[in-house]
Amino acid sequence: MLALTEVADDPLILTSRLTLGFLGDLSGDSRRLSTFDGYDLATASELCDAIARYDKLRLVLEEVPSGRIVGLFEFSFDLHTEDIARYREAGIRLAATDCRFGPTLADDYQGRGVGTQVFPLVTDVARRFGRKRIILWGGVLADNPRAIRYYQKNGFQAVGPFTGADGVRSLDMILDLDSTRGP
Ligand SMILES: CC(C)(COP(=O)(O)OP(=O)(O)OC[C@H]1O[C@@H](n2cnc3c(N)ncnc32)[C@H](O)[C@@H]1OP(=O)(O)O)[C@@H](O)C(=O)NCCC(=O)NCCS
Repeated sequence: MLALTEVADDPLILTSRLTLGFLGDLSGDSRRLSTFDGYDLATASELCDAIARYDKLRLVLEEVPSGRIVGLFEFSFDLHTEDIARYREAGIRLAATDCRFGPTLADDYQGRGVGTQVFPLVTDVARRFGRKRIILWGGVLADNPRAIRYYQKNGFQAVGPFTGADGVRSLDMILDLDSTRGP
């Protein structure tokens, strides 16, 4: 049986369980649109353990009062060389004040305006970490019209299409935080 002292010593014990439910419950379509290395407890633990190590920050959206996790909002504060090269080709020089971002909502929370409601909090977090622009983490799949519309309506500009190593067509998009207001 779990003791409160164990949770106090390591809050990730509970965080991992909640995140597993979220990942494990994602439909096949959501998994295709928002890809993770896996959808089991090991992956959930890795996602949690990576927070504040290296460059990762992960925020979860919790439904009250159920405590169910219904959204994951991920930041990476390091840029990949491939991203830097791709954006340079499009005439944009990425800098240390840029970050990568990727959102995932539970299936039953998608398409209800929730992502847009949360977005001012996302930009606030990015600003508090000294970031000036946000790019999409791995781009957005070209056949994900809802996400593309979501990014557009929240101020992202299309940078250009690209084909990933898996041969899948995606779109790079960038948001200048000076063009948006906080919460
Ligand atoms: C992408 C995501 C975070 C957006 O959050 P959301 O709460 O669903 O988005 P919102 O409801 O705020 O906005 C969606 C917009 O897309 C529109 N939309 C929905 N389906 C659409 C479609 N098939 N074609 C075009 N637009 C569509 C909605 O009408 C809305 O725009 P509007 O307000 O102008 O009418 C969420 O849908 C999600 O987690 N999707 C699955 C995972 C994913 O795709 N992640 C992104 C990976 S890059």
